[in-house]
Amino acid sequence: MTTAPLVFDPFSDEFFTDPYPTYRRMRAEAPVYYDERQGFYALSRHRDVAAAFKDHETYSSARGIDLAMVKNDSLPAESRSMIFMDPPEHRRMRSLVNKVFTPRAITALKGTVTELIEYRLTEVDNAQFDVVAEFSALFPVEVISTVLGVPAEHRQQIREWVDGSLHRRPGQIEMDETNWEAVTQIGTFYYDLIQERRRHPRDDMISGLIAAQVERDDGGTTQLDDIEITGFATLLGGAGAETVTKLVGNAIVQFARNPEQWHKLLDDRSRVSAAIEEVLRYEAPAQYNVRCSLKDVHLHGVTIPPGKPVFLLGGSANRDPDAFTDADKFDIDRDRSEAQNLGFGYGVHSCLGAALARMESAIALEKLLDLMPRYEVVWDGCKRVSMQNVAGW
Ligand code: HEM
Repeated sequence: MTTAPLVFDPFSDEFFTDPYPTYRRMRAEAPVYYDERQGFYALSRHRDVAAAFKDHETYSSARGIDLAMVKNDSLPAESRSMIFMDPPEHRRMRSLVNKVFTPRAITALKGTVTELIEYRLTEVDNAQFDVVAEFSALFPVEVISTVLGVPAEHRQQIREWVDGSLHRRPGQIEMDETNWEAVTQIGTFYYDLIQERRRHPRDDMISGLIAAQVERDDGGTTQLDDIEITGFATLLGGAGAETVTKLVGNAIVQFARNPEQWHKLLDDRSRVSAAIEEVLRYEAPAQYNVRCSLKDVHLHGVTIPPGKPVFLLGGSANRDPDAFTDADKFDIDRDRSEAQNLGFGYGVHSCLGAALARMESAIALEKLLDLMPRYEVVWDGCKRVSMQNVAGW
């Protein structure tokens, strides 16, 4: 019997469709995987991925968090945002927006979020509809845009640009002209909106960022400039839109494959938040984040030299049987104290929007339980996205 060589290609059809068999082999056969062609490393075991997320002194975000950025050291100055920073700069930027995303502040948004979600569901034909295109793709961008202060008429346009910036053809590693055009359009849009809010401030996050003071390297404080605020808005608008879309789509697919779990939810709505955690673990919308090694790392007999892209495969770690009992089983009642769910990352960059994402997803799932206590998926209408680091339908 021969075994096929182990290849992890994050830009392949195979990866976009079902990365889990590859992850299983990586954890067992090559826990520090090295790709000679592209010159990157990948960590797949829970223990290693969690430790790397926590260790920003070894694994830096400052050169970007996808392969092309880290390889080329090509982060454009205008796309500097906190997700591409290491402490202490990262901490100073994050503290500016931390307050807006506390569980308490998020609870205050519940009414608005519920309204936006309910509105979208009144628009669908409940005999048959596309859960992603007609529902889960539409409301998350509306929620985060409301927080930022983007006027309603522009919100879906932003989502289309974000989609355009993240789309990758199989095999495409570098951003192409269409991706860059979308990035430029998003940046120009927020830049113009910032000018407008400088003239006429409102009670929204962009106006808040204009007024905020940030501590600089020399110990003094200054206001954020337009490029920095554009960076914030672009990051929040992107991170807040794509991932919840994927989580809700992934949930509907997993519950269709595991109908007994859907029945548990119908019987007991208090399990909804546990269900969200399980979808996040089982099929993480953000499968990986890339880091740049800053020093020699000796792990499992391999040495990762400095300056190399290292994939932290949260999507694999979340299925590691050494961390989770029956890791490949979708089970909303599992013991969540067994190991850290890495679906929202971990360490200093762990998801700023986690509380908001959990609330949005829980409300969406509740409303779907009401709308379709029984449902079937039309499988041949389902298509997976091929995007930079997000996985879903
Ligand atoms: C299910 C939905 C979501 C998932 C799975 C998710 C996942 C993640 C992950 C894995 C990271 C870590 C990135 C890294 O370590 O490099 C992250 C960071 C981040 N997320 Fe989320 N996210 C979700 C929703 C949201 C929402 C709704 C927002 C909106 C505010 C948001 C904003 C952010 C931001 C700003 C960061 C960067 C934090 C930092 O650099 O300190 N996310 N997210």
